[in-house]
Amino acid sequence: MAETEDASLSPSTGTISITLSVNGEAKPLRLDPRVSLLDALRDHLHLTGTKKGCDQGQCGACTVLVNGRRINACLSLAVMHEGDEISTIEGLGSPDALHPMQQAFIDHDGFQCGYCTPGQILSSLAVIEEIKAGLPSHVTADLNAPPPLSDTEIRERMSGNLCRCAAYPNIIAAIQDVAGSAQ
Ligand code: FES
Ligand code: FES
Repeated sequence: MAETEDASLSPSTGTISITLSVNGEAKPLRLDPRVSLLDALRDHLHLTGTKKGCDQGQCGACTVLVNGRRINACLSLAVMHEGDEISTIEGLGSPDALHPMQQAFIDHDGFQCGYCTPGQILSSLAVIEEIKAGLPSHVTADLNAPPPLSDTEIRERMSGNLCRCAAYPNIIAAIQDVAGSAQ
């Protein structure tokens, strides 16, 4: 084999072998290199908790965590994530042992149809970590002080996650509940 050839690439099919780490499990895959992370999760790994709303980075339904940071899985290629730790809603809790954020969404009625909810929940977790880490947002007034856990801050930071059922006030209440009890 020539030195420049990639053993993981199959010239006859144009596919590539990769292993993704999803919710702590190694997932070997053979994919067209143009497959998005969202399609790899949903269509190849059958983890359909991550939703496809717009498929163009506008709705946030496809939000997952990559190494703890939130991304839109529809805007990222699966092959870019070998070696990353990917977290989806399936890895968060179980029906018998819900994650506190999942429980808070139930307690505060933070959803109606539920289509945006996995993305909202994963984004919520990242928002709390971003505020704790002192990362400013567009509405942070004092860049020299830790950002407040205000509704305004949370609303701005969650603005990439749309909800057609308009459960926004209840989503904010759920996040405030978890953020408050986490302090
Ligand atoms: Fe990715 Fe809408 S499906 S942002
Ligand atoms: Fe229906 Fe958000 S709960 S889109």
